[in-house]
Amino acid sequence: MAVLKIARMGHPVLMGVASPVDDPKDPEIRRLALDMVDTMNDAPGIGLAAPQVHVPLRMVIYMVPEERTEDGTGHPLTVLINPEITILDETTEAGIEGCLSLPGMIGSVARPRHIRVSALDLDGNPFEYYHARVVQHECDHLDGVLYPMRMDDLGSFGYVEEMTKPTE
Ligand code: NI
Repeated sequence: MAVLKIARMGHPVLMGVASPVDDPKDPEIRRLALDMVDTMNDAPGIGLAAPQVHVPLRMVIYMVPEERTEDGTGHPLTVLINPEITILDETTEAGIEGCLSLPGMIGSVARPRHIRVSALDLDGNPFEYYHARVVQHECDHLDGVLYPMRMDDLGSFGYVEEMTKPTE
């Protein structure tokens, strides 16, 4: 296991469309997932996409601590391989986002409130569930999209140390 180097905005690996994972059961994929977990925890962050560690494959991980969710339930460590998002409700909701590829910065991004995620796990089994913001953020990385490219108003984009903290 290892902490990997994280690419920052401007690096070409973050701008391309990532390739599907051929075999989720490949030991190399499992090792990559474990390295991504180490890297995310070391940062620390709540999500990470493979292109952010210079691997242009369609794989993301995330883990949301209880205190970071509105209902206090959090979300356990999840690996999504070849994820696909279906928007169930076009109604959007604004929320503050940050990204390990834009260290020190945050911005407000409007995203659909309700989505369905279909993906494979590390055993190659398909699964499906409903979740929102962090998954959309991470899956955007697989298509070369960083959150500032989703922002309607760059007036809410800036260095976290300079910004008024959002009220919770
Ligand atoms: Ni990100």
